[in-house]
Amino acid sequence: MVGSSARESEETGQGGKIDRPPTRRGKFITFEGIDGAGKSTHIDAAIDLLRSEGFKVVSTREPGGTPLGEKLRELVLHEPMHLETETLLMFAARREHIVCVIEPALLRGDWVVCDRFTDATYAYQGGGRGLDVAKIETLERWVHGNLQPDLTFLFDLSTTVAQWRIQTQGKDTDRFEQEKADFHARVREAYLSRASRFRRFCVLDADQTRDEIKKLIEESVLSYCSQ
Ligand code: TMP
Repeated sequence: MVGSSARESEETGQGGKIDRPPTRRGKFITFEGIDGAGKSTHIDAAIDLLRSEGFKVVSTREPGGTPLGEKLRELVLHEPMHLETETLLMFAARREHIVCVIEPALLRGDWVVCDRFTDATYAYQGGGRGLDVAKIETLERWVHGNLQPDLTFLFDLSTTVAQWRIQTQGKDTDRFEQEKADFHARVREAYLSRASRFRRFCVLDADQTRDEIKKLIEESVLSYCSQ
């Protein structure tokens, strides 16, 4: 698992090795919210801000983030399947993502900004579809042990506004976006319930203007960088 104690040494040229201070583990930031909450544009702005502050940032997403993960994404977003299959595929893609992208980046000291992570499984498969949360907890422990996001932005929005946004986007919708309002209401409740349990969450009212949300994210990110 990713840790902060990886020590690096390098050749001195005289056959000896000198110890360098441990590489500081990068930070792991995630963005979450119901479909239509409008997080995507803000993710790019947050990444630009972090880069302008001198951080190396890996931008990624779930499901996806690796070649295999992107293939699994296509399947879970568009192919009808049983709930357990859907959940296992989310975690299969996640394992690949953690091993190939997230852990190596954090160990290098890079920051990882990820569009959705395991909170989405609790919200969608647990809250939305009613999967026993104990099953998600078991998979979470197995797939990522102690690895958790350091900071999570939750875009919170009424399902009425979110549904309206999806319908007026004029894009093809996936299996999740096609779900009815009550499904999205359960997803929203599950997200809010997690946000009330874990201090890493920063809940944003996604019904504000783009500039207002951008400012709030900038303030949170900058205050987090200075910690
Ligand atoms: P996106 O549209 O934000 O890229 O997310 C794709 C969809 O996948 C979104 O509707 C939420 C869903 N999803 C889950 O149901 N469970 C998960 O664990 C993840 C990561 C996403």
